[in-house]
Amino acid sequence: MQEDPPPGLDRAPRASLVQLRSFEAVVRLGAVGRAAQALNLAQPTVSTQLKELAAATGQQLLQAQGRGLVPTAVGERLAETARAMFAAWQRFEDDAAALQGLRSGRLRLAAVTTTEYFLPDLLGPFARAHPGIRIELAVENRDAVVAQLAAGSVELAAMMMPPPHLPLQRWPFLENPLVVVAAAGHPLAGRRRLTLAQVSAEPLLARESGSGTRLALENLLAERSVTWAPRMALGSNEALKHAVRAGLGLAVLSRHTLAAEPATEGLTVLPVAGFPIRRMWHLVWRHDRQLSLPARTFLAELRSTLGVRRKPRL
Ligand code: PGA
Repeated sequence: MQEDPPPGLDRAPRASLVQLRSFEAVVRLGAVGRAAQALNLAQPTVSTQLKELAAATGQQLLQAQGRGLVPTAVGERLAETARAMFAAWQRFEDDAAALQGLRSGRLRLAAVTTTEYFLPDLLGPFARAHPGIRIELAVENRDAVVAQLAAGSVELAAMMMPPPHLPLQRWPFLENPLVVVAAAGHPLAGRRRLTLAQVSAEPLLARESGSGTRLALENLLAERSVTWAPRMALGSNEALKHAVRAGLGLAVLSRHTLAAEPATEGLTVLPVAGFPIRRMWHLVWRHDRQLSLPARTFLAELRSTLGVRRKPRL
């Protein structure tokens, strides 16, 4: 929630929208009589509104020209301001009408496995605000999420590395630090600083191929020309954590898959040079397809929630 008042609130107009509407009509039509007729008001009513508006602004807004009225320079500015306010109000009414359309429908998303630790929390406010919308969230690895986007079976997807071959819009929304994890009692656990060469002498437990976490690790190893072949591949973050805890080796995992205090899970994060690998999660959608109203609304609401929330520090 935004707590600071919006800029200018303390100067919120003493003028009313009704006065502004009459004033704008006088400027546009050049005479009080014509404006009153267009607005279906009595001429003295419009004249009174103009006087009140001049008093509220403390400005001379209109001047006589021939038999009609024209705005002064400041009156011209006020007419423009009034038109912008009416346009904003119209947008509000359009949005309100569109939101009525959210009484039913479906929001289909796919998300990589590492986001399952927080994505349901981000869906919560939308689910509560739009109880008629059915939310279908598929949690899969990166390759499966990409396949769903390619097939068009989901509208939105959360992932670290959007594929370059699809026409996607992307919005980076949260940092995803990848860390090296060991069992709490591992011989390297108490060390203050480790190199990648040192940890790569240990057995590596990795996610399955098709996982974005694994791809990010493989990219890093290739960049550094380090060979660290997985001894074992496991198909979920939780299975990996169990195997690490059981002392079978080290793993590279998203920090978000671990408890705030990894020690409570019998795990520790090793201080390896070059880690965490700092990546972002993106929300992506196809720009060659029209997003449904539920998808557009979810995006807009999430943007405004995350826009004012402090980024979580990890
Ligand atoms: P994954 O997710 O390892 O579950 O495929 C990685 C990602 O964040 O893209």
